[in-house]
Amino acid sequence: MSILEIKKGIYNVGVEDWNLRNFHGYSTSRGTSYNAYLIIDDKITLIDTVKKHFSEELLKNISEIVDPEKIDYIISNHVEMDHSGAIPCLAEKAKNAIIVTSDPNGIKGLEAHYGKKLNYMVVKSGEELTIGKRKLVFVATPMVHWPDNMVTYCPEEKILFSNDAFGQHYASNLKMDYENNLEVIYEEAKKYYTNIVMPYGMQTRKALEIVKSLDIDIIAPSHGVIWKENIKGILEKYEYFSNDIPEEEAVIVYDSMWNSTKKMAFSILDAFTKKRIKTYIFDLKVNDISDIMVKVLKAKYIIVGSPTLNNNMLPTVAALLTYMRGLAPKNKKALAFGSFGWGGQSIGQVNEELKKCNMEIMADPIKIQYIPTKEQLEEIEKTIQSLI
Ligand code: FEO
Repeated sequence: MSILEIKKGIYNVGVEDWNLRNFHGYSTSRGTSYNAYLIIDDKITLIDTVKKHFSEELLKNISEIVDPEKIDYIISNHVEMDHSGAIPCLAEKAKNAIIVTSDPNGIKGLEAHYGKKLNYMVVKSGEELTIGKRKLVFVATPMVHWPDNMVTYCPEEKILFSNDAFGQHYASNLKMDYENNLEVIYEEAKKYYTNIVMPYGMQTRKALEIVKSLDIDIIAPSHGVIWKENIKGILEKYEYFSNDIPEEEAVIVYDSMWNSTKKMAFSILDAFTKKRIKTYIFDLKVNDISDIMVKVLKAKYIIVGSPTLNNNMLPTVAALLTYMRGLAPKNKKALAFGSFGWGGQSIGQVNEELKKCNMEIMADPIKIQYIPTKEQLEEIEKTIQSLI
């Protein structure tokens, strides 16, 4: 992989993870990258690293510019191991390098991962580090995506090294936004926001206020492409993603054993269609929950159906609800439905899980025993129409 000089003396020396297809549960059909940035100044500085098993590739990339032993500072914007995993290997090479991390959560995290023996330096939000003709300013962005997160801003170059913020799980040999299909990278940025950052919308909005106050030529995240020609665009997208104001849209998610719950799902779809509400319908047998969540992000109505299997909801539905609860989407109206043979416990269980997601329950769950009749399906459609 050729090294990209993003501004004079500043290089992306990170790696592309072309074949990654699952990032702890998030499907990554376009792979990902771990971007790391090398600044050549009086003090040679590396901003973030890569996953541990890419350490050698990172060292090789750095070696194309400078001997890794000469690195003076390693800025760790974020402890998560996709960005810190190569720190021990680098510290082994660059014996005098100082690892700069946030106070208090960065240092706690790095020590827990790599022990206390590394050469750490802690910085608070707003502190500066002069590395020669440039300086670096550290700004805390807690919970975007862990408590330790910070971003690093270089005012002389007007570059924001934003770590997870504005990233995308997207591998590309061409690293600038304008060298890629904009619709695709916005789509991946939305999926990334939804599945990684969504629980922290409030913190994201605070971070955005800080970012908007900076003079920025380049946003250099730690995943995906580097934003240069579409900075306004990605900032506007983040404002939209994080505002927690739903659109008049619906998501219907179900799994079905003998198509009865599926028939109910499609009657519900008919109700939304008659009300001219944009609706997305997903069968959990063939759809990935991290893709479904992208549609949940801005939808007002979340309708979830499961038949009853051995006194429980189907495991696919349980997985969706567990995942959704963790991502904590805001301002949703929800409804449970499903068919059953005798016990029928699943529908109440789905309803309880939707309550735990802090969603406003639209009505009592809709249950049908065995196979819904034409009349029952029409009744479901009318009921839903009356609720929306
Ligand atoms: Fe890309 Fe939260 O790590």
